[in-house]
Amino acid sequence: MNPDNKDTALFGSGDELPSNHSSNPHINELIADLGRRQVLAGGAALGALAFLGVSLPGTTQAAEQSSKALGFPFKPRTRLPFTPVAISRADSITVPAGYRATPFIPWGTPITGRYPAFLDDASNSAQDQAEQIGMHHDGMHFFPIDAQRGSGHKSDHGLLVLNHEYIDAPLLHPNGPTSVNGKRVSAEEVRKEINAHGVSVVEIRRNVRGDWEVLPSARNRRITAATPMQIRGPAGGHALLRTRYSPEGKATRGTQNNCSNGFTPWGTYLTCEENWAGYFATRDAELPRELKRYGLRSTSRFGWDTLPGDEFERFDATRKAADASGDYRNEPNHFGWIVEIDPFDPDSVPVKRTALGRFAHEGLIFAPVKPGKRVVCYSGDDSQNEYIYKYVSRDKYRPGRSDGRLLDEGTLYVARFNADSSGEWLPLDIADASFQAACASAGVSFADQGEVLINTRLAADIVGATKMDRPEWGAVHPDTGEVYFTLTNNSSRTTPDAANPRPANAYGHIIRWNEQGRGHAGTRFTWSLFLLAGPETNSRAPNGAPLDASNILASPDGLWFDDEGRLWIQTDMSGSQLSTGPFGNNQMLVADPKTGEMKRFLVGPQGAEVTGIAATPDFRTLFINIQHPGEGSTASNLLGTWPDGPGKRPRSATVIITREDNRRLL
Ligand code: FEO
Ligand code: CA
Ligand code: CA
Ligand code: CA
Repeated sequence: MNPDNKDTALFGSGDELPSNHSSNPHINELIADLGRRQVLAGGAALGALAFLGVSLPGTTQAAEQSSKALGFPFKPRTRLPFTPVAISRADSITVPAGYRATPFIPWGTPITGRYPAFLDDASNSAQDQAEQIGMHHDGMHFFPIDAQRGSGHKSDHGLLVLNHEYIDAPLLHPNGPTSVNGKRVSAEEVRKEINAHGVSVVEIRRNVRGDWEVLPSARNRRITAATPMQIRGPAGGHALLRTRYSPEGKATRGTQNNCSNGFTPWGTYLTCEENWAGYFATRDAELPRELKRYGLRSTSRFGWDTLPGDEFERFDATRKAADASGDYRNEPNHFGWIVEIDPFDPDSVPVKRTALGRFAHEGLIFAPVKPGKRVVCYSGDDSQNEYIYKYVSRDKYRPGRSDGRLLDEGTLYVARFNADSSGEWLPLDIADASFQAACASAGVSFADQGEVLINTRLAADIVGATKMDRPEWGAVHPDTGEVYFTLTNNSSRTTPDAANPRPANAYGHIIRWNEQGRGHAGTRFTWSLFLLAGPETNSRAPNGAPLDASNILASPDGLWFDDEGRLWIQTDMSGSQLSTGPFGNNQMLVADPKTGEMKRFLVGPQGAEVTGIAATPDFRTLFINIQHPGEGSTASNLLGTWPDGPGKRPRSATVIITREDNRRLL
């Protein structure tokens, strides 16, 4: 069966499609949009309502007139008024005519301390790196400078906070990393690697010429893979978190492999620990379940564990002492969490919030919060055949009074997607009868909720969660509350199911769901597939048609809604998909769930992933990140030179997107 026929069989029969896959707008979207855009009320929007059989007081005549004028079927005015960008393999950024894309704060930009200048030969010291922007930008948020306790409105001044997911060691050092017999030999080198990880907080302002600048500010901060942190929530202080550094199991050092992000209604940043397991090594023959299920191995990715000294030995989880307070057997249990950072207080100690679960966290996205209601947030576990989770706080949101403690007490759920388009949230709660029954039936026991959370993946296995095609970012529609998640790809899927319909899923898809009942705190939902990524011959656009030259993509990853309900999609293709596929370089597209329209907005430089997205409240500035441009480069063999040009090492960087006429982006 060729891919075409397969897709027709899977999606053309109608029996597995849970809800509306047509290009029909959702009526609630139209009503919400109508309220916001009074200016359109006499025209397009009312025409659409009339088509759907909705009448509003005093509008019938206008609706009829506009319906007649427009004719049926109604075709709403595009909300994507730009010419789509063609695929490209250029070592540059392409945006539509009328837009500007300007690189900003590349790796090595000085932001604090002595403000050490970036040296083109990468000879900056480890200490310099601790005062400069880290490598490999990923998730990001713009906090208006007046957003200290939550919402803010300033669009020309704020704190840009961003993750540095990992490093390209060959580019971080003048001639790459040094090692002898598989062991690292330079503490200075490894310290520089540790300092190139983590998070940057940068105060930025738009000057009178309209250009964004970094301010020399006491708020500028680097958080690295060595920064002291606290561990709170049900697993804080657990016996399985005891280490030589923290015999109490409540403190740790650093955050790493920080991928997508989140931000709270109370004005803090959330960074997410994704592929952290590879930073550790253990030579123990038998691994406890809390290490085994997360893929700990006998060698680590960068070999930090092979140097002597406590700051490096902590990456060696081998049992060496009589008990856990004498070694770092439990150090890997300090990772895989969501970390909360107060960007407005440079002295604040970041906090790992264990109630949100331990896995390869890719972001934490909040449902709209309402005063007096519990907060609800979503997080994907980005690994093949892992799960999507939801957290519901125990306590209610009180604007101006609530803080990160809302993320310490609550219920963590994992998703099951049924074939009939229904879905269930299954609690991973030791006090819950259904969870207890599932544990008993699986013959698994947990001592307490802390142990459940340290073993989140195992707990989710036990309750029968649905294995997904690598959940990456989530986004919640600002008007409808519908939740969207990217499922980037899954080469190891052998058994398709309704929610992950393609075997060996090379291209990825986007799933979405509506929570049932009031708010997002319930346990049932209804899901559908929004997009099947891929080439023209194996894809389905949001409007039900195959994708075309204006919007083919693969491996969707970053996902974000602007405040008018347009969905921005970023891709992370790699390997042959990037070099020989029909998709060109990684890209960013915009989709309108209301109409099903979707267009490519940006193409990134060679070898790079496009990831991370944030906007100013006035939507005149959009920030995105370009990660690992010229991937695979070494000092003597540059495969790309963005953004500095010929002869210069490629550097991850933020990109500022504005319109040439300085109006709203869309
Ligand atoms: Fe770091 Fe799942 O992307
Ligand atoms: Ca990434
Ligand atoms: Ca990602
Ligand atoms: Ca990815």
